[in-house]
Amino acid sequence: MSNELKSFLEGLDSLAHDCESRKGQACSLNELDELRIEFLGRKGKLAQSMGALGKLDNTDKPAAGKKANEIKQSITALIDSWQAELNAAESGKAMSQFDPTMPGRKPWAGSLHPVTLVMDEVCDVLTGLGFEHAAGPEVENDWHNFEALNIPPEHPARDMQDTLYVSEKIVLRTHTSGMQIRSMLKQEPPLAVIAPGKVYRRDSDLTHTPMFHQIEGLLVDKNVSMGDLRGTLTVFVRQVFGPKTEVRFRPSFFPFTEPSAEVDISCVMCGGKGTSDGKTCRICKGTGWVEILGCGMVDPNVFKSVGYDPEVYTGFAFGLGIERIAMLKYGIGDLRMFFENDVRFLEQFA
Ligand code: DAH
Repeated sequence: MSNELKSFLEGLDSLAHDCESRKGQACSLNELDELRIEFLGRKGKLAQSMGALGKLDNTDKPAAGKKANEIKQSITALIDSWQAELNAAESGKAMSQFDPTMPGRKPWAGSLHPVTLVMDEVCDVLTGLGFEHAAGPEVENDWHNFEALNIPPEHPARDMQDTLYVSEKIVLRTHTSGMQIRSMLKQEPPLAVIAPGKVYRRDSDLTHTPMFHQIEGLLVDKNVSMGDLRGTLTVFVRQVFGPKTEVRFRPSFFPFTEPSAEVDISCVMCGGKGTSDGKTCRICKGTGWVEILGCGMVDPNVFKSVGYDPEVYTGFAFGLGIERIAMLKYGIGDLRMFFENDVRFLEQFA
């Protein structure tokens, strides 16, 4: 073996020893990268040693090249193994800093919409009194929504201003009262039903939205009197608004009931005093009363349109707006809040 080859091979061996002796010096992945460049980079120590290869005798070159490859592979393997050790140490450190007893991030829980809450509560109270649940279409025909309820074609309630028409004889129901008709057509008396749902009107301002929610109640039997209506609604009101709530019936008019009444309750804000904090109560405007629903004894004409004999049966009906009840119960001043879906508003009901 020529002296040149011998010193070339020794140079490579000492390079490998040099690298081995650096074990433990690189404490981070960055430092290890620098070490890799120092030995294996394009201008690194191995590349420099290879410069002498060209000066060797042609017969020595194969042995020299083979050795150079081996040294490159062993240095690479060495640095790779250190890298693996560093990686393992880093992830071990991360795991030891991780505290599994720390509380996790709280999942964001939603809440029921105040309209749903009140709807559920009102339905619960009424089903508790024996009323059964009925459901029907929001796209309703003229006959169920108006005609069968004793609302003739010339009646102001049918005015284009209030009603959203789908076609000449089809409307978006303007109230849940049409469900009285559907329920009576389905079964013979006695019956006691409630029909909650969405209703639609061509109306939009501070106190009206084109869609809102109502619940309808209807009870028909022999010998049903205004006293039954009054008793039922008084129990209902006191369950929803509290046992001390006063109830007052005020004469009114609805085409489908005779006589008709509107029901007021003692103001939820001022308790009926008419003042709150020395000022005129903003809810009842100083009257001490707030209106909550319409009701009455079923008009004989309504019974006739479903084939019930008005000489045999009597009944009462009532209808109330859910948003209105929710505003009173929760002291909400602006109807539009129900439909803006502002999370800051909604999460108060969680
Ligand atoms: N349908 C009426 C409305 O939308 C509410 C109503 C009043 C329903 C009197 C009734 C009733 O059942 O008897 O304003």
